[in-house]
Formats: sequence, structure tokens, C-alpha cells
Amino acid sequence: MKVLQDRSLAPFHTFGLDVKAREIVIAETAQDLVSIWQDESYRDMPKLILGQGSNMLFCEDFAGVVVLNRIAGIEVEETAEDFLLHVGAGEDWHQLVTKTVEEGMPGLENLALIPGCVGSSPIQNIGAYGVELKDVCAYVDTVELTTGKAHRLSTQECQFGYRDSIFKHELKNSHAITAVGMRLPKVWKPVISYGPLAQFDPTTVTAAEILQAVCDIRQAKLPDPKVLGNAGSFFKNPVVESHVVEHLLAHYPAMPHYPQSNGMEKLAAGWLIDQCQLKGHQIGGARVHDQQALVLVNYHHAQIDDVLHLAQFVVDSVKEKFGIELEHEVRFMAGAKETKLAEVVR
Ligand code: FAD
Ligand code: EPU
Repeated sequence: MKVLQDRSLAPFHTFGLDVKAREIVIAETAQDLVSIWQDESYRDMPKLILGQGSNMLFCEDFAGVVVLNRIAGIEVEETAEDFLLHVGAGEDWHQLVTKTVEEGMPGLENLALIPGCVGSSPIQNIGAYGVELKDVCAYVDTVELTTGKAHRLSTQECQFGYRDSIFKHELKNSHAITAVGMRLPKVWKPVISYGPLAQFDPTTVTAAEILQAVCDIRQAKLPDPKVLGNAGSFFKNPVVESHVVEHLLAHYPAMPHYPQSNGMEKLAAGWLIDQCQLKGHQIGGARVHDQQALVLVNYHHAQIDDVLHLAQFVVDSVKEKFGIELEHEVRFMAGAKETKLAEVVR
């Protein structure tokens, strides 16, 4: 375990806001994590585990200890049917995707260029271009922070849903993810159902071609956090009853909508925001991204309040035009605990 001297959180989250923690430490093993939770000097401090801070909005300075999860290690086992990966929670997600594709273990290519750590991937069940973490996840290893007890959760036990899992609910704050197991079948089936990927011939396409196409699409639409601070899609796509969709389609026949397996329908929040003419809308230094209305960016030295006011303005605009309440996907962190937009907007 290493304690950092500089307490700025600027290098450890992607929104580029000027925030600090009371203490920042690096955990390289599960035991490091447990020892922080058991350390007397940290006992009364709020604690927050962070991967790469790419799904995080700090609403003020964090009045406690931020623990950067850097548990490393990639192990590959081969069976007749599958490649079985056991990956340390602190490994970089995109590097894992490129490494596996390059080494002839396809299956993660649709999830290329998603920022963050492998250990964060099950938390919101990361997804893009027709694939979610749940499709490749074999198990998730955790450590119970107050007891040090190790657990292995099966995919079913993780209760994966759209941008959701047990780690946002029952296990939030009590368990840290230490490793993720993935199963990549040797008989690879390309997933090219998403619009721009449908150009490929499923009988000849390679995983490397899909990986490249996904990177190209993402680079055209999504801002690079190194250039423009952001946390990806700021809001979730709303999942609504089909009668709501029918009502809206009567007024907006071009509205994208995606039937779900449970009879509900998913709407495109980016389209809803775009229809409110909000692309490029700016409050202080925070702005609705010009290429993808679902992303709010730190355009120019944004203050925390700029981001909060812009987020609320987007929510209010969509509610007024479509009657749909957007819910933020980005995790909001107050000084001592997680919070949400409605509680912090001033
Ligand atoms: P962090 O932001 O550091 O943490 C997220 C949450 O998980 C926090 O609550 C944190 O406390 C908790 N946490 C982190 N590590 C652990 C651990 N080991 N144990 C327990 N709790 C932990 N997401 C998608 O699903 N699909 C996309 O296509 C996508 N595109 C994106 C594009 C951009 C440009 C950006 C900036 C973000 C995008 N995201 C996307 C969101 C983000 O990349 C994912 O949510 C990612 O998994 C977050 O990883 P992280 O390590 O940065 O997590
Ligand atoms: N659209 C617009 N205007 C916009 C943005 C989108 O009209 O400004 C329309 C698009 O034309 C398309 C639809 O909305 O018809 C959906 O857009 P897109 O395919 O770009 O995807 P998204 O729904 O905006 C979701 C995920 C992304 C993921 C992509 C690709 C959520 C909240 N977001 O975005 O995930 O990369 O699909 O699968 O589910 C993230 O979670 O941070 C993230 C970036």
C-alpha cells in the first residue's frame, strides 16, 4: 500500500474538475484493501474505491481516503472450448481488449475503448455495440472489506442488468472487486447487429476489424477525456412501457426505440436531448457535447456547479418536451458519500 503526497484528484478522474481528497492511497492487493478498512487511522474516515474515475462526478472535495485499485495480473487458461481469463481488478480494460484480440482470443472487441479498470466493468455491466460484460463474464471475485473474507460470485449472482448489477445495490460499499473471470469461446461469433457494424460480412469479418471499426465510431462521436473532460454517457437510456413509446411515436415518428426482452422499450436519451436542440448548449464551462448530446463535457475550466446546473437543465428540458425523466448514469460523489443530482443541485 502506498500513500500519495499530492491529494489532488485531477489525475484520477476523467471530468477534469479541480477536487481533492483528504488522502489518496494505492492498493495493489486484496490485503491492501482490507488493511485500509481495518487501519485505526482511517477508521472514522469515509472511504471510496476508484478505478480510473471515468464514471464519476465529484460534487465537492472528498473528505476521506480515496483508494486507487491497482491489483494487477492476467492469467489465461485454455480448455477445449474456451479461453478462461482471470484478470486483476486494477488492469486497464482497453489494454485487455487489445491484448486478447491480438493474441487470438476474440470476444471483447465490441467493448474496445471503454475507459476504466477491469474491476469496474461488472459494476455497471459495461456495454457497447451489442455486447455487455455479462455476455463474457464467468465470475467476479470480491473481498468483504470489514472481514477480509473472499467471495466468488457467479454471473447469475451478479444480477446484471442494463448499466446495473448487485455491486450498485446490496454489495455497494461492503465489497471490493478484486478480479474478474471471463470466458471467451474458441468458436467465435461476431456481433455485428449495431448499425454501422452491419456492413461486415459475418462469414469473413475478423475480431481485429470489428475492434478497429468500434474505435473509429467511438473516436468520431465520443470526446477523448484527455482533451475534453467527460464521463461518457451522462444519463442512462430510459427504459419505458410500450404504451409510452406508442404515444411518443404519434408525435415523433422518427424517434429511435429498441424493444427489450421483458416487453419494455429503450429510448435513446441522446436523441431526446438532441431534439431539445441542446447540442452545444453551455452553462459556464460545462457543455453538451457537439457530436453526442448524451455526453456532458468540461469545455473550459468548468466549475462543479456548471456541470450540475447543465445536467439539471437537460433533465428539465427533456421532461418538459417528452415527459420522460432522465436518470444519470454517472456516479455522483459528495464529500462523504454517494449522492444524486436532485440532492446536490444548488
Ligand atoms: P470508476 O469511475 O473509478 O468507478 C465507478 C464506480 O465503481 C465508483 O462508484 C467506484 O467507487 C466503484 N468501484 C471502482 N472500482 C471498484 C472496485 N474494484 N470494487 C468496488 N467498487 C469499485 N461505459 C459503458 O458501459 N459503455 C461505454 O461505451 C462507455 N463509454 C465511455 C466513454 C467515455 C469517453 C467515458 C469517459 C466513459 C465511458 N463509459 C462507458 C463509462 C466508464 O468507462 C465505465 O463505467 C467504466 O467501467 C468505469 O471504470 P472506472 O475504473 O473508471 O470506474
Ligand atoms: N442520437 C442523436 N443525437 C445525439 C446522440 C444520439 O440523434 O446527439 C441518436 C443516434 O442517431 C441513434 C441513437 O440516438 O439513433 C443512439 O445513439 P448511439 O448509438 O450513439 O448510442 P447511445 O444510446 O447514445 C449507448 C451507450 C454508450 C455506448 C453506445 C454504443 C448508454 C447510456 N450509452 O449510447 O455507452 O457506447 O450506446 O453501444 O447506454 C456510456 O455508457 O458511457 C456509453 C458511452
